[in-house]
Amino acid sequence: MGQYAKKALVLGAGGFIGSHMVKRLRDDGYWVRGVDLKYPDFSQTWANEFVQGDLRDVDFVRRVLQFKGERGNFYNSVPYQYIESFDEIYQFAADMGGAVRFHWRERCRHHAQLRLYQLERS
Ligand SMILES: NC(=O)c1ccc[n+]([C@@H]2O[C@H](COP(=O)([O-])OP(=O)(O)OC[C@H]3O[C@@H](n4cnc5c(N)ncnc54)[C@H](O)[C@@H]3O)[C@@H](O)[C@H]2O)c1
Repeated sequence: MGQYAKKALVLGAGGFIGSHMVKRLRDDGYWVRGVDLKYPDFSQTWANEFVQGDLRDVDFVRRVLQFKGERGNFYNSVPYQYIESFDEIYQFAADMGGAVRFHWRERCRHHAQLRLYQLERS
């Protein structure tokens, strides 16, 4: 990872908690991809790469999980052997109904190294 300690994916990075989490991770030396429907309302994003999209879309989620390099290549086509998993994933995207539980569990089954942090409404 060169200059970065780890690579993290923050879902809901345009929201209150997610945007602060991105900043915290950057301060801790992480490379961070933020994902949200929208950019943060009251500040810039500190993410190395910020991707706008809907996390209820399974195909989008599949692509979001693929780390393609420190330059932020989400939209680029990268040879399969260069695609890696994220070390950590933080889920703060709200109001997604049951979608998050369903397809995140499916996807994360294939990413043994990651730790999934999720705040859920009880
Ligand atoms: N803020 C708190 O004090 C607090 C306390 C306990 C739990 N929580 C929970 O933590 C989570 C995050 O809280 P918050 O205050 O940051 O909320 P927030 O509304 O500020 O942020 C949530 C973000 O999720 C994004 N989002 C929603 N649906 C999405 C989708 N389909 N695809 C992509 N992005 C989507 C929204 O655009 C928004 O930016 C929520 O589930 C909330 O219920 C918050």
